[in-house]
Amino acid sequence: MSTPLEAPVIAGKSGRNSSHSPAEIMEISRAREASLARLLMTYVSSGLVFMLLPGTFLGVWNLLQISGRESVALVSPAWLQAHGHAQVFGWIGSFIFGIGFYSIPKFRGTTKPAFGAAWACWAMWTTGVAARWMANIYLVQWRLLLPLSGALELSAFLIFFRMVLQHRPEKSGKNLEPWVWVVITASVGLMLVLIANLAACIYLALQSESPALSHILDQRYLTLMTWGFLVPFVWGFSTKWMSVFLGLKPVRPRLLLSALAVNFVGVGLTLAGWGAQATVFFVVGTILIIVALRMFEPAQQEPKTRGVHPSFPLFVRMAYGWLLVAALLGVGAALWDSSGGIWGASRHALTVGFIAVMVLCVGQRVLPAFAGMRLLWSSRLMFAGLFLLILGCALRVSSEFLAYQDYANWAWSVLPVSGFLELAGITAFAMNIFGTFILEPSHAQKVILSGPGPRLRK
Ligand code: HEM
Repeated sequence: MSTPLEAPVIAGKSGRNSSHSPAEIMEISRAREASLARLLMTYVSSGLVFMLLPGTFLGVWNLLQISGRESVALVSPAWLQAHGHAQVFGWIGSFIFGIGFYSIPKFRGTTKPAFGAAWACWAMWTTGVAARWMANIYLVQWRLLLPLSGALELSAFLIFFRMVLQHRPEKSGKNLEPWVWVVITASVGLMLVLIANLAACIYLALQSESPALSHILDQRYLTLMTWGFLVPFVWGFSTKWMSVFLGLKPVRPRLLLSALAVNFVGVGLTLAGWGAQATVFFVVGTILIIVALRMFEPAQQEPKTRGVHPSFPLFVRMAYGWLLVAALLGVGAALWDSSGGIWGASRHALTVGFIAVMVLCVGQRVLPAFAGMRLLWSSRLMFAGLFLLILGCALRVSSEFLAYQDYANWAWSVLPVSGFLELAGITAFAMNIFGTFILEPSHAQKVILSGPGPRLRK
């Protein structure tokens, strides 16, 4: 896939180069870049709204209820699941679509890019996630809204996937790079999650007394969602960007694909009802990916931290540390969990320690440039957000395990503190991205502000 900095090729419908003059080509490509930036900023902004309100605020609210009642079983499963859905689909899903559409060369290479389809995808996705929220929290027409939301989300994904599949390597006969395989596999994982989600929604609407999945079904669905979709997506983008951003030695492609294969065996085992055995595969897959990416080997080049906080490489490595903690806690949960606390700690180490920390790192590194070549609003705020999130995550993972399992009663009172720290970290991230979009000028605005460039001056 081309990067935003590569020169666009303007081609007619036939695919042949058009007869536009160089000035016209420049003008068209500028207008297209501006449209792409607008599309990306819309996806990212709606993702941030889902992350803050239905995602993190509800997560903290649930946590306050759990620690107040000293039990997760006394809190509405529909509310717990509404939180997970808003974070995974509302936040991470919207970011993936926004960055995905932005990276599809088709949007740069033709005179009539399919912006209409990309906007339709956004409208369907956002309405679908919002409808799920209404159904789970307010129970408004939930038997209707639940399947409708699942159908809208799946349809939006199919629009996106069709465009990704239309992408061919620039030179025919050239093999796809390994990271593209990882992202395609993760996309298939996302499609399976969305199909499972729609099937579950239809089942609940027809057969259930509430819009919440049963515990056993939810556990399997969560494994498909986390290890089958979220984790491979982050591996794909790590493979594409981390060698350059962190100055690491080149990725080991065979180990990368082995990690992916082992991971998917784990997902398959879970779906077949062998969840405990699957946890060992997730540990092996995690070790393989860390070795494949050479995440903890000394860097061979200076990391590229211009525009972001210099601690960026440290936080990326910490995220991979959290992934290992999540996988190991999964094995511990399979052996000893009696309350949901070790499973919860494992899932939290994965969703917050790995996924959210990676999104905060990579998002603040790439989104300002994608949104019209802006600069990040504040690199100090980036550090503060990541620090608070990691601190909150460490407190949450340790105290969840201790409190739920009845190992230490004082740990119940640490849980709310951990939630507020995470909320503060997530809010700092949202402020930094909105600050970047609203307060930092884009490249085009800078050109206008600085008047005609030297090229145009006579
Ligand atoms: C940042 C602050 C967050 C807080 C305070 C929070 C809180 C919670 C709580 C209290 C639960 C209930 C189950 C348990 O006790 O473990 C939960 C479950 C969950 N969370 Fe979070 N969470 C946060 C972030 C995230 C993020 C960033 C993601 C995903 C990217 C996420 C995804 C999930 C999922 C998938 C579940 C399982 C829902 C279910 O049972 O179906 N959470 N979270």
